Amino acid sequence: MYICICKGITEKMLMDQIGTHNHSQDQILKNLGIGDSCGACVVDAVKKILDNQNNLDSKTKKSDS
Ligand code: FES
Repeated sequence: MYICICKGITEKMLMDQIGTHNHSQDQILKNLGIGDSCGACVVDAVKKILDNQNNLDSKTKKSDS
């Protein structure tokens, strides 16, 4: 599934970028070029990044307890 049609960025490409690099949200978007054209994809891309970070945070909290 495409996250950014303008740049041809798929959800897998975004998830790979999130999973393999410890970059900030802005850096991930910049690295992939998400939002560089029409910008329609930015909200969904940011939501995916935040959901992923929240999942990681909840896993970390569970392992701490
Ligand atoms: S859909 Fe991503 S910049 Fe247009």
